[in-house]
Amino acid sequence: MALMERQKVVLAKADAPSNIAIVKYWGKQAIQEPVNPSISFTLSRARTETKVSYTAVRKELKIDFLFEGKRKKAFIPKLEKLIQALLPRMPFLQSGELFIESSNTFPHSSGIASSASAMAALVKGLYSIHQQLSQDDDSKMDAQKISAMARLGSGSACRSTLPGWVLWGETAEYASSSNLYGCSINELVHPLFLQLQDSILLIRSGAKSVSSSAGHALMKDHPYRQGRIQQANKHTAELLRALKMGDFTAFAGICEAEALSLHGLMMSSSPPYTLMAPESLAAIETIRSFRLQHNIPLTFTLDAGPNIHLIYPNEVKQEVLPFIEDCLKPLCENKTVIYDELSIQ
Ligand code: PMV
Repeated sequence: MALMERQKVVLAKADAPSNIAIVKYWGKQAIQEPVNPSISFTLSRARTETKVSYTAVRKELKIDFLFEGKRKKAFIPKLEKLIQALLPRMPFLQSGELFIESSNTFPHSSGIASSASAMAALVKGLYSIHQQLSQDDDSKMDAQKISAMARLGSGSACRSTLPGWVLWGETAEYASSSNLYGCSINELVHPLFLQLQDSILLIRSGAKSVSSSAGHALMKDHPYRQGRIQQANKHTAELLRALKMGDFTAFAGICEAEALSLHGLMMSSSPPYTLMAPESLAAIETIRSFRLQHNIPLTFTLDAGPNIHLIYPNEVKQEVLPFIEDCLKPLCENKTVIYDELSIQ
């Protein structure tokens, strides 16, 4: 009877959205802590869905991982690292069989933050298994705890466990900010910035030539390291101000400076590398000249990849959509644009 009980399969389903950073996290210290604060908003449609099943049948932990129905051995080392880090909080991970199935609503490793949504969904799933096994009747997940655990999988994942605008990393501008978890800052954000569109121009969907982990590591001895940390802190203060005031012009300035600085840091790393494609630059030029010509509030950012996130308030959607269809879609791989938006839920 006791044995049967131990072999019971425990199931959990979880999902988490991707997020797009406006002030970028670039460079790590200690255990997955950022060298500078970052601010992002959580998306609505670009998500990872994860199913976890666990059976306590073995002395050592065995992990099986399927991504979009296919066995992905390449993910196992990342998973093992996360599981090691979670062990003190989730002792069940010491032994047994763990079967994880994960799928994305967007192309994997396309520069849309797939590790953020994947790690956030996985941690939520594992935490649910932990709660079921320990008969923890506190079904309300503690937001800080979940965010801190997701951070151990991927830094930016700690911002994907919360809706809307999230600040991660210590800053004098926000008293309860922390390097360990993300903080929801929606309460200080002007309504204009709570209804943002993010149309993701898929310039290239393939895997990146240099991973974000390698990029973070290159910041350790980067010649512009100190300048970058100062810039990110300044941008954090300025962005918080712009978000409070509803100042789209200031927002756009910070957003673009951050995106181009991120790619500039990559180009000036040792060794240097580029993740932008010629079409990324063409899209940037097209966006800037459309804005100049029509005086419509819109801006762009890039993650660590060639794709462009075109960001604009809901109220100009009808004017921006034909521009995307006519002028930006032709620059995208297979004319693919993912129409997403900020999610406040
Ligand atoms: O969370 P990571 O290790 O995948 O790093 C993410 C880094 C950027 O996406 C480039 C910036 C950010 O803050 O999300």
